[in-house]
Amino acid sequence: MAIKIPPAEIHSRVTLKTFDDQEYLRRSVELGVGLNSLMADQGLSMGQFRRILDFGVGCGRILVNYEHLFEEIEFYGTDIDSVTVNWCRANIAGPRFSVNEAWPPLEYPTAFFNFIYSISVFTHLPEDMMMAWLAEIARVLAPGGVFLATTHGDYCAQLFLPNPNDVEEFRRTGQHYQMNIHDHVLPDWYQTMFLSRERATAVLSQFFDDVLFVPRGLCNYQDALIACKHPHARQDSVLWERTSKEVAELRAELQALRKASATTIQELESLKAGHDDLNDRMNTLLERIRNWLLPTLEKHSAALKHRRRLW
Ligand SMILES: C[S@@+](CC[C@H](N)C(=O)[O-])C[C@H]1O[C@@H](n2cnc3c(N)ncnc32)[C@H](O)[C@@H]1O
Repeated sequence: MAIKIPPAEIHSRVTLKTFDDQEYLRRSVELGVGLNSLMADQGLSMGQFRRILDFGVGCGRILVNYEHLFEEIEFYGTDIDSVTVNWCRANIAGPRFSVNEAWPPLEYPTAFFNFIYSISVFTHLPEDMMMAWLAEIARVLAPGGVFLATTHGDYCAQLFLPNPNDVEEFRRTGQHYQMNIHDHVLPDWYQTMFLSRERATAVLSQFFDDVLFVPRGLCNYQDALIACKHPHARQDSVLWERTSKEVAELRAELQALRKASATTIQELESLKAGHDDLNDRMNTLLERIRNWLLPTLEKHSAALKHRRRLW
């Protein structure tokens, strides 16, 4: 199997590190083998599905493991990163690639895919975005379809949360969003999300049926969740479209609010600066009154009294 190897400037956008070709390939194959074995443990295999989406495809590190299936199965890959997606378009023949926005919707019709997998993506999204994307994935997944995602759980929290307060929050709430990625390549909201078994299962159960949690299920590292959409799930596309529209409207409102509060803060700051300036000028005037006008007045009135006495 010929796996395409993206150059360091491309694959580092996904791995946050650079590897030589051999090491990149080793990791890519390891993830493919890990995913196959995770699926096989549940009686699943990539080959059983007709139309598959790799959500957060990056530079195709997972997808290329299924090159031997590209002719018989429709593969799709989507990502927010147009640089890696363009690399995929130019170097991986077969699948159809698209660039999606940071927020839903996807360009695909309702109930389009039989299998959607998302490796190391929900490990990075903030809560509101995670919820919005799970709803959207549930929309494009056909009834009877399967969704597989990986998350950072207990094991990764032990590895990556050095601060005891963060660990405490993770233990108490089952969730912690760590601001620890500052690479100036990925958007600011792309950070590290940790979800406990209970929280991850509860979150996915809001959108899918029969959620299975496999601790350290992918390559003995990230936790894995496999969920399905009930074969008789009501696919109310009007409802989904309305929800997406409402989400888009709310987002626009939020953006307008953010802009308005930024302007208000600016105005307040300039008022405060003006106020500080006014304060300074008042203090100078008061000082002048205290140190010069009042003593001078007293001096003059004393001189006046003296004159009157003389008259
Ligand atoms: C750690 S990388 C994993 C890439 C790929 N799944 C793999 O394992 O090689 C995370 C990927 O998720 C993508 N991503 C983050 N947020 C996304 C979103 N809202 N929609 C689609 N892709 C997203 C990033 O651009 C990045 O390519």
